[in-house]
Amino acid sequence: MSLLAEKTANVATADGMLREEIGEIIAGLSASPKRIEPKYFYDQNGSELFDRICTLPEYYPTRTERSIMRDNMDEITRLVGPRAALIEFGAGSNIKARQLLRGLESPVAYVPVEISGEYLLEQANDLKAEFPSLSVKPVVADFTKPFDLPTHEDVPERNLVFFPGSTIGNFEVDEAESLLRVMKHEARIGGALLIGVDLVKDIERVTAAYNDQQGVTAAFNLNVLDHLNEGIGANFRRNLFRHKAVYDKEHNRIEMRLIATADHSVDLQKKAIDFAAGEHIVTEYSHKYTIDGFRSLAERAGWTPRHCWVDVDNLFSVHYLTSEA
Ligand code: TRP
Repeated sequence: MSLLAEKTANVATADGMLREEIGEIIAGLSASPKRIEPKYFYDQNGSELFDRICTLPEYYPTRTERSIMRDNMDEITRLVGPRAALIEFGAGSNIKARQLLRGLESPVAYVPVEISGEYLLEQANDLKAEFPSLSVKPVVADFTKPFDLPTHEDVPERNLVFFPGSTIGNFEVDEAESLLRVMKHEARIGGALLIGVDLVKDIERVTAAYNDQQGVTAAFNLNVLDHLNEGIGANFRRNLFRHKAVYDKEHNRIEMRLIATADHSVDLQKKAIDFAAGEHIVTEYSHKYTIDGFRSLAERAGWTPRHCWVDVDNLFSVHYLTSEA
C-alpha cells in the first residue's frame, strides 16, 4: 500500500478514532444485544468521572482494596522480597503503585503498561521525583497481547505484575484467563502477581455500588454517547437514554446498561441504528468472583495461588500468586 493510501485508510477523526474502530463501533451496535466497548468511556471527561466514582460512598472497591493493601503491607513485602521490578497493567493513575513501591524492599524498577502514552509519561515523571534510584520505564501497549519488557541497568530479583482495581472483572471469563496467561508470560518463571478481585456478595450491596445516589456512574456511562458523538459524528441524544446497572446472577456479574427511553434512531456516519423503547446497550461487565473461583481461573492460566487477603466484611480480595514453571 502506498503511504498516501495507508494514510487515507486510517484517517483519524478529530477525536482520534480510526476508521477501523468506527467499523467496530457500528458492528457492536448492530449486534443483539447492542454493545459499546468500555474503552470508549475514557476521554478526558470520562476519566475525571471515573476518579469521582472511586470516592463515592456506595463504591466500596477502591477504598477496601487500599485498606487491605495497607493492613497487609508487611506480609506482602515479605512475600515479594527485595529488588523487584513492578509491572503495572493499565496504570491509569499510579496512586496504588506508589503505595506499593513505598512498602516494598528496595524496588529496582517500575514499568507501567498502558495503551495511551501521554498521561503515562507525565505520571512516570512524577514518580521519578519520589524514587530517584528507581528505573521508571513506561510501555505503551495493548496489554491483552504479549509485549516486550524494557531492560534495566540494575537487574531485578523478580518481576511482580500488579493489577489492582478488580479490572480483571471487566473481562469475560475466557478473556480474563488469557489475560492472566499474558501476565504469567511477562512475570517470567519465578515472578509473581498481585491482583485485586471483587467478591461475590449481597446483590443489593453490589447493585448500589454501580447505581449511586448522586448519579456519577450514570453520568460516566452516558458520557460514552457524547464521546462517540464527538469522535465519529454520531448524533446520540443523551436524554433518550438512561443508565442502569443490573446484576446477572447466572454469570455473577454487573451489566452496565444504557436503556433507550423511546423508539428512535441514531445516525453513525451514514448508518442508521434503530432503538425500540426499553431496548438496551451493554457498555461494561464487572464480574464478581469467589476466592476459590478466582483461584481456579488463575490456576488454569498457569499461576500458583500463594496467599489471599480480604477485609473484615468480605467485600474484596487481594491475591498473591507465583509463576513456578
Ligand atoms: N473494575 C472496576 C469495577 O468493575 C472499576 C470500573 C471499571 C468501574 N468500569 C467501571 C466502576 C464502570 C464503575 C463503573 O468495579
